[in-house]
Amino acid sequence: MDMILSLDTAEISEIEEAASWGVLGSVTTNPTLISKAGHANPEVAIKKISSIIDGPVSMECVSTDADGMYKEGLVYHSWAPNVLVKCPCTPAGLAATHRLSREGIKVNMTLIFSPNQAILSAKAGAWCCSPFAGRLDDISWDGLALVAEICEIFRVQEYTTKVLAASLRHPVHVMDAARVGADIATMPFKVFKMLVQHPLTDKGLEQFMADWQHLQEATAAK
Ligand code: G3P
Repeated sequence: MDMILSLDTAEISEIEEAASWGVLGSVTTNPTLISKAGHANPEVAIKKISSIIDGPVSMECVSTDADGMYKEGLVYHSWAPNVLVKCPCTPAGLAATHRLSREGIKVNMTLIFSPNQAILSAKAGAWCCSPFAGRLDDISWDGLALVAEICEIFRVQEYTTKVLAASLRHPVHVMDAARVGADIATMPFKVFKMLVQHPLTDKGLEQFMADWQHLQEATAAK
């Protein structure tokens, strides 16, 4: 499977714009992003996002106990078939993941910072796990090395849980995530837009347009 490009945002306008390029395959949200986008009703927001893209849309549980997360997961799952339930990598999160997964509900196990947490997420039956690369970089740890390690372990162990490289902060993170075999890469819209930008593309396009204009003027003058 090729790497899915995902937006880490709850801003509808950003999702609509990225989706219009035809390359957006997923959206991840978290309580911080939903609050930043000012969504008073997360259900309305997630239903809207799920109608824009066919791929996985992650919505995070806010309970901290297993039963609460399980119940929230059932509710999120009822919003749209492509909603992934995000559970944190805690003992309660593992228990909720195990329960939800057994019922066929896809879980994105989040806040992964070590290979052992990723292994536990796979054992609990998570559909994907989210190592946070940027937050490790922030504390002078190599975030992409963790993503690479998890990809290797999952390959060797033949775990079917996917690796979602999260907390990506710049375009090189995205290239590296693809290189080490991440299944999904999620990034803010700012980074998504940077993927397409290149000064030589802008310069080349400017030159082509100017030359075309000269030709039109020269032809009109004849
Ligand atoms: O959504 C989870 C993750 O991508 C958060 O990223 O930049 O807040 O560390 P960040």
